[in-house]
This record gives sequence, structure tokens and C-alpha cells, in this order.
Amino acid sequence: MKAPLRRGFSFYLAHMSTDRRRFIKIGLAGSVAALVPWRLRSSPAFKPAPGIKVLSTWDHGLVANAMAMSVLGRGGDALDAVEQGVAVVESDFTNRSVGLGGRPDRDGHVTLDACIQDHDGRAGAVAFIEHYEHPIQIARAIMERTPHVMLVGEGAERWAKENGFPRKEVEIPEVREQWKEWLTKGEYKPVVNRENHDTIGMVAMDERGRLAGSCTTSGIAYKVHGRVGDSPLIGAGLFVDGDVGAACATGTGELVIRVAGSHSVVELMRQGMEPREACRVVVQRILDKHPGLEEHQVGLLALRKDGAHGAYSIYEGFSYALSSEEGTELVKSDFVRALK
Ligand code: GLY
Repeated sequence: MKAPLRRGFSFYLAHMSTDRRRFIKIGLAGSVAALVPWRLRSSPAFKPAPGIKVLSTWDHGLVANAMAMSVLGRGGDALDAVEQGVAVVESDFTNRSVGLGGRPDRDGHVTLDACIQDHDGRAGAVAFIEHYEHPIQIARAIMERTPHVMLVGEGAERWAKENGFPRKEVEIPEVREQWKEWLTKGEYKPVVNRENHDTIGMVAMDERGRLAGSCTTSGIAYKVHGRVGDSPLIGAGLFVDGDVGAACATGTGELVIRVAGSHSVVELMRQGMEPREACRVVVQRILDKHPGLEEHQVGLLALRKDGAHGAYSIYEGFSYALSSEEGTELVKSDFVRALK
């Protein structure tokens, strides 16, 4: 079954509805931060932080962090923690933006994207894959068992099958019905902070001070078939440099890709910027460079090698789960624009 609307995704980005236009209001934290100059320091030597730490996007990060912390609490690896952490959310078929419970694309296919990266920069990614419960595990296997970083589509599915990953058929009547309802209009309207692009991105540090990150999503609801967002793209949805820090992104992937969001955050931290400020600068860059896309949310989350961390989003409402040996809390991100 095909959607009536045949326009490309760039049309969606450039002509999104204005009926929910928000007043632009600079958040207090954002405006104060903008007045404070940051000092560029050359090659800062960040010391590894004492203690374990996990950060992940949105409130589904709470269950993901619990799993990741149980891995780290046993002296486990950051890489195992970020893989097993987000896998919990992939298995939650009530989640409409991650895993096989996600909303389908325009043609009714639930297609999944994921990537993973370790302290040493090794990376694996999978995109545009159907019928596999754990794209994050496939991404890691691609990293460890092939000379490549990314496999996509039918080739990725074939490789996953050959490498022992079981196919899974998940049919959720409610999701089908809502998709059919959407088809009657075929309109793309971004909805800030809604589940239509709530990727889970996770960054973690283990007791040896090693970093890793993961990112997994079913992408934007009703996307054009074949569309791949930022989440499986190393440098966009995720970037880890064990000498500096790690960052991940959530929100409208096209905007994150355009500024190489996660990589940009890590590079700013490399130059000496605090994690929160690095996220703020990249969010502001998105806004400055892409006028006309005001209704899209992007959230960036960063963990520096010394344990400092921070986040920033375009809109109010982005939150992240923060875990350390002291416990777990859901933290509200600073933002540029308040929701009315
Ligand atoms: N950030 C998820 C996506 O755009 O697909």
C-alpha cells in the first residue's frame, strides 16, 4: 500500500506545517551561556574520571541505564554496557520509535537503524534493516566480524541471517491502523518531543575510564521508504573518541547529519569546551544554518573523558537519564526555545 503523497523528504523538511509554530523564547540558561566566552585551550589532557557513568536520551533511558549500570557494576566493559543497555529498549514493543514496535515508513515497513562505537574509535552500523529485534547487536557484530563499518538493507539482513541472528515478525494492529489512518492524508508534520523521533542514544564510561556509545531507532514515523537518519551514522547520531569524550543525538536526523552533530560536539570538547556548551553551540549552529526548520527538535548529549557531561536541545522537553554510582536521575536538558 502506497501513501498518496509522493514528495521527497526535503520537501517535508522545507515545508513543514506552520500550524503549530512556536514563539521563540531563549531559555534563561541558554542566554546566560551565550554571554560567557569559552576559552580555547590547545590539546587539553582530560584525566579519566573515577567511577562509572551512563547517560542516555529520553525517559526510556532509565531502563536502558539500569541494564548498562548492571554491566558496569560488575566491572564490565563500556562497550558491553552500551550494547546491552539500548537492547532493552529495542525489545520493548510498546516503544513506537525504537525497535520492531516502531512506526513504519510510508510504505508500511518498519525499518531500523543503529550504530555502536568503542573507546578506540572502532565502529559498526546497520541501516534500513527489517525483521531483526536487535539492530544494535548486528551493528556490533559488523564491527567485530567484518572489515566494514556499515551494512544496509537487504545485504545487511542477509549478513545478519548468515551470522546467526534470528528473524522476527512483529505485527502490532494498533500501529497498522494508525499508519492506514495517516495514509488518508499523507502529511508530514514534525511534532516536537513526540515519539516519532525519540531515538535512544547512550554514552558510557567504565571503571577503567574507557568510553563507548550506541544509538538505535526506527526513525521518523512514515518516512520515505529507504530513508536513513542520523542514528546509524558515525559522526552524526554518535561519535566516540576515547581521548576526548563521546556524544550522541536525538531528534530530526536530517538536521543532525547536516552539521555532523555528534562529531562536532566531540571536536568542540577537544578544543576545551565544556560538554554542555559544546552541545549548545552545535544546536545553535543548526538553528543558524537552517532557517525554516523551526519546528524540529534536536537534542545532543555529551560525556567527556573526565566525567563532565551536559546536554542541550532546540526545544524545551528533551530529557536524559544520568546514572553513576550515586544513583540514577532523569535530567531536563537546557534548551534554546521554550514550548508555549
Ligand atoms: N534521530 C532519528 C532519526 O532521525 O531517524
